[in-house]
Amino acid sequence: MAEEGGRARAAGPAAGEDPGRGGLRDEGPARGKFYVTTPIYYPSASLHIGHAYTTVAADVLARFHRLRGEDVFFLTGTDEHGQKIQRKAEAAGKHPREFVDGIVAGIKHLWERLRISYDDFIRTTEERHKGVVQRIFERLRERGDIYKAEYEGWYCTDCESFYTETQYQDFPGGRCPDHDKPLERLREESYFFRMSRYADALLRHIEENPDFIQPPSRRNEMVNFIKQGLEDLCVSRTSFDWGVRVPFDPRHVVYVWVDALSNYISAIGYLSDDPKLRQRFERYWPADVHLVGKEIVRFHTVIWPILLMALELPLPRRVFGHGWLVLESGKMSKARGNVIDPHALMDRYGVDAVRYFLVREIPFGADGFYSEEALVARYNADLANDLGNLLSRSTAMVERFLGGIVPDPAEAEDDGVLRGAAEEAARAVEEHMERLELSDAAAAVLRLAQRANKYIDETAPWELARDPLRLRRLGGVLYSLLEAQRVAAVLLTPFLVEAPEKIWHQLGLDGDVRAARWPEDLAWGGLSGGARVRRGAPLFPRVVEEAEGAAGGGG
Ligand code: MSP
Repeated sequence: MAEEGGRARAAGPAAGEDPGRGGLRDEGPARGKFYVTTPIYYPSASLHIGHAYTTVAADVLARFHRLRGEDVFFLTGTDEHGQKIQRKAEAAGKHPREFVDGIVAGIKHLWERLRISYDDFIRTTEERHKGVVQRIFERLRERGDIYKAEYEGWYCTDCESFYTETQYQDFPGGRCPDHDKPLERLREESYFFRMSRYADALLRHIEENPDFIQPPSRRNEMVNFIKQGLEDLCVSRTSFDWGVRVPFDPRHVVYVWVDALSNYISAIGYLSDDPKLRQRFERYWPADVHLVGKEIVRFHTVIWPILLMALELPLPRRVFGHGWLVLESGKMSKARGNVIDPHALMDRYGVDAVRYFLVREIPFGADGFYSEEALVARYNADLANDLGNLLSRSTAMVERFLGGIVPDPAEAEDDGVLRGAAEEAARAVEEHMERLELSDAAAAVLRLAQRANKYIDETAPWELARDPLRLRRLGGVLYSLLEAQRVAAVLLTPFLVEAPEKIWHQLGLDGDVRAARWPEDLAWGGLSGGARVRRGAPLFPRVVEEAEGAAGGGG
């Protein structure tokens, strides 16, 4: 039905749909590169909507940069060593490896359902990672950056973090403020990393690179923290054995945060034996953005940069610490039994509703409340009303007034209103995405849909249709409406994974919207006349019933 289709783009490699896991791709001509990471998650239990929050945000960024034609590498994975995992496995009566394998399979399945377009998934139990961690440890020793001593102090196994006596005294009841659990007293032989050596260099780097730690509130916290002085960090443990062995002293396992942070370079081939993989490291390092939750900004902006300095590697360009999704009943946690399962939400509302809500609802960087009512409200207002109604109203009018045929723009009278709005939307999306204002970027696309709906009311096409002398104007109005939605579909591809294709199809376009490229495919006039719209099912059927705890949680 090619003659019925609008301008068809060659269905090139679909952006984001072929993660090419593990395989090396053709690097192609020199274009910008973009390396984005998520934290690697502890496979201690199934992940909840809070973990999905970070991963969806990273996916949106990855898809946006692919849309711009950049060479993107998107990394995620799992942090599988350490005392916390070992204890969980023991409690479940399993070997840690067996324990994590099941959970990791579930995590990969969740990312598949959320259509996370990662390029690689690193597990810290993989040989390719463990070997690199050992080499890193060797290098630190060669430089004289580690020494052996006895560690005595406090530890929270849930954070996998050491606390000083002073911090312990400050915590009410000696309990970890993040996990509300008593700290444990540790006394064991350990290797220490001379962090103190690098404190001044780190402060200088933070001052000279205002974008390094974002948002600014997090940067200020970190600057104050570092100014209090950095103690040397305990980087090995001897009281359990589930970890990467210290190569020159195998009674020790590497501290899990040193092990985990190294994933960002081990996965892309740092110190790899494989020369092809090392090229990948040359291409993508330093990372453009490490996305992390605010509670682990400290690890990523103190320990990690200092490790990199010791390895004489460039530092990541940005570490962005986003806020938490919280429930009325407090922070989500398995222990409290108030976790929200993303699968249940997707069963009920679909993948786009969940992705959209996560990105749009809360300004990126701030904490925000999660509730299913809020999700339904967003869904109905933005997706069902603004986007969905626009498509059904406009395709219905094209059918009724023009026999379903897209008007020829050359013969239509265009007032430029929606063209201006579409150009403005693209500009705003780009600006906000560059500043990691994901919610504002999504809002900018929705504004285009809202403007188009208002344009229908202003132009009243049903009245134009009654007047044979105003047919050119009618054609111009309807063409603008369809074309604005073509642009919106392209702008939505980073955020939504099903709706853009449906919009594309209903507009009568062939080819794959995911092959669209910035800025060519945003230029006004991409839709050619003569195609036939394919009016279909509502994009986002309105949700009417009261939503009550369908996905669990809330107490
Ligand atoms: N394994 C470490 C990270 C190592 S990175 C080198 C870890 N894992 S975790 O499984 O606990 O995941 C923490 C991350 O999940 C947070 O930093 C955040 O990105 C995300 N979130 C977990 N709960 C969250 C909310 N309730 N809200 C928002 N994000 C949350 O820490």
